Amino acid sequence: MLRKVKGTEVVDPRSHYFVQRRRRSSFLDDWRRQRKAIARGADVAMTRSDARNANVGFLCGGDSGVPMRMIDARIIEIAPGQRTSTHRHSHDAVCFVLEGQGATTIGSQRFAWMRWDALHTPAWSWHRHENTGKTPARLLAITDAPLVRTLGLSRIEDAGDVPPEPDRPIRVPALGPRGYDAELAAAAASWEARLGARRHTSFGDLTLRTSPRGTRTALLVDQSLGYRTTGLSIALFQIPPGQKQTNHRHPGEALLYIVEGEGYSVIDGVKYPWTQGDGAIVNQYVWHQHFNGSPDKVATVIRMHMWESIIETMQAAMDPIPMYEDEPGLEERMQAFMDGKPEE
Ligand SMILES: [Fe+2]
Ligand SMILES: [Fe+2]
Repeated sequence: MLRKVKGTEVVDPRSHYFVQRRRRSSFLDDWRRQRKAIARGADVAMTRSDARNANVGFLCGGDSGVPMRMIDARIIEIAPGQRTSTHRHSHDAVCFVLEGQGATTIGSQRFAWMRWDALHTPAWSWHRHENTGKTPARLLAITDAPLVRTLGLSRIEDAGDVPPEPDRPIRVPALGPRGYDAELAAAAASWEARLGARRHTSFGDLTLRTSPRGTRTALLVDQSLGYRTTGLSIALFQIPPGQKQTNHRHPGEALLYIVEGEGYSVIDGVKYPWTQGDGAIVNQYVWHQHFNGSPDKVATVIRMHMWESIIETMQAAMDPIPMYEDEPGLEERMQAFMDGKPEE
């Protein structure tokens, strides 16, 4: 069993070094074979769920055939006048309204919505959606269920057609300033902040702003707007006809959903054409760029990821690998702009 490895002492292949190394390399070989950079809207299999009283189909993650590690995206279709079951889950979710009008009740609060609005249904809050219009309502729901599953913490409860129970604040006894008492107080304060945070963005209230990356953008769900998600964030951007977003790279996993328009993405040197309803996925730290292929129509896309909460931890763990990089030239100009140096 013991073998000599060149330049080392005699080593045992059963040692923890080899166990771990084999596991990690076989995982990565397997993942590289499985991952996909495009999810097709036309491939979404909408399936009737009586338990949910809605049609549900995964664009990526779930049973879609497009595996995801951090986030997934599903379409929820609610018939006119219908409401979904009341349920809660251990994953966080943000919804983008693709079509129709309706309302979502989260605990004791009710939020009316229409096309291109966004909502946050927090992990473990009871909630349900209803269609108040005369046409089908379609929501794109993005969740961190794959990440929660990785941690072994998945849980879903469905209560059927009953009103959602209100969220309860955590009661904490009089506390000391340190140790377990401090931990208890911090957890209660963080839960309280989540309960009181923002839940809904009206698209009509947004101002799209010019970005140095060649697009007009607005954040829909983000901590800068008062949301407290687990890290899920949505930004909407529009690429002008015939234009492109600048080339850049950052860690995965990010999903770009095509709300309107047609074009293509170049991800790690491969070109992926897309159209309305498709999703482009950036799985890893590779250069990528999104192009509007139409000479006369704007392309509207939303990008979703869940790393806002973990980016600093990733930065600390991956230092000195940068967590965001623009193409050479732009990177230096943008840093100078942020440092307040005038463009010559
Ligand atoms: Fe839900
Ligand atoms: Fe990106």
